Amino acid sequence: MNNNENLEKAIKQCWDDNPTNEFDSDNPIVRLHEPTFNAEEIIAFTKQMLTTKVTMGEKVTEFEKKYCSKYSYKHGVSNNSGSSANLLMLSVLTSKLTKNNLNKGDEIILPALTWSTTVWPVIQMGLIPVYVDCDVNTFNMDTNKIEEAVSNKTKAIFSVPIYGNPCEMDDILSICKRHNLMLIEDCCESMGAKYKDKYVGSFGRIASFSFYYSHHITTLEGGICVTDDHELSEMMRIVRAHGWVRQVENKNKWIEMYKDFDPKFLFVNDGYNLRITEPQAAMGLLQIDKIDKFIDNRKSNAKKYYNELKSLGDFFSFQTTTKHSENSHFGFPMIVKNNKYFSRDEICTYLNNCGVETRPIIAGNLARQPANNLFEHRISGKLSNSDTIMDNGFSVGVHQSLANDAIYYVTGKIKEFINKRTKK
Ligand SMILES: Cc1ncc(COP(=O)(O)O)c(C=O)c1O
Repeated sequence: MNNNENLEKAIKQCWDDNPTNEFDSDNPIVRLHEPTFNAEEIIAFTKQMLTTKVTMGEKVTEFEKKYCSKYSYKHGVSNNSGSSANLLMLSVLTSKLTKNNLNKGDEIILPALTWSTTVWPVIQMGLIPVYVDCDVNTFNMDTNKIEEAVSNKTKAIFSVPIYGNPCEMDDILSICKRHNLMLIEDCCESMGAKYKDKYVGSFGRIASFSFYYSHHITTLEGGICVTDDHELSEMMRIVRAHGWVRQVENKNKWIEMYKDFDPKFLFVNDGYNLRITEPQAAMGLLQIDKIDKFIDNRKSNAKKYYNELKSLGDFFSFQTTTKHSENSHFGFPMIVKNNKYFSRDEICTYLNNCGVETRPIIAGNLARQPANNLFEHRISGKLSNSDTIMDNGFSVGVHQSLANDAIYYVTGKIKEFINKRTKK
């Protein structure tokens, strides 16, 4: 056996020695997420380390191309998180070098119910977030409320398909057209979701995805921005790496423009270091082959939860998938309806004590988070549905490796709790 085979064998053995995450009815634990990677990815990661080619290079490019070809996006610029992907998009869109760019003081309409780092890059770029309430059924920004939020300062809509559920894109696109607004998509929770047979992330000028550990696939931490606009992707390659032209595809354009500078050390925009690494890309390449299976599992798990729980409509409401859409199910969210028997916190405590992990739905109504007081923003109308979801919503895991027994254990515990509470 050669060294490579020994290495693989050792990693497989170590992996097999890990405590199993299979559901054990004697010691029931149902986590929000289990890893999407196994010994295969650890081997690929380790072998990449052994080459000593670790900083961004060929593997990263291969990973970007494979991700884009999987979902028919033209250009992909990976980076080190979904949050960084949002930062990169907003940074490039506000660059003076970008055509039809955004400018300080421009307003961006976005959902109040979202993750914090949808909003922070907006304010970090000097833009003003305008919060709009969500639809209480789909959890996505209510498209009937977007238009009343538009002012003469509004320049873009930042749409976020929540928990894998595509937004009503026809409505959003027609609002953009009527008011000449740019569409930016934060798809960090919705890899592989489709609206009218088209993947989320392909409706706007630019979109982001996350490869965080608990997402549909992972590179440990990681993210990618996708766009059809080659110039924008080139700008992202610059801003991702110090404002440097080193990693752009058409370097000559910049070298010709700035002939007096050392072409190897040419900086044309401000920038960050948001790069992902080669070992992460090596594992990501394997993960892409598994996405379809993972998403199919998520879909079938969500269906099982729903079939078991739909009779409890007096106590809960469930996320409704947007018409003409395929939801890629980031989790299984539920809203505790106003009832005299129990609160969201009571049922979550009960489930947690039974070994079932729960979590609130994203960051709740972002406009209510303390950080929001620190910066200029605008709230359009009432955010009462976002409040309802923040105060009464929770979700349980729907991930790719959830066993049927685990699902029926969770639904059984929910029913048991309700029986206990409603017994006279
Ligand atoms: C809507 C949304 N945007 C952005 C992010 C940030 O992604 P990351 O955790 O990879 O930074 C998340 C994280 O889950 C998210 O849900």
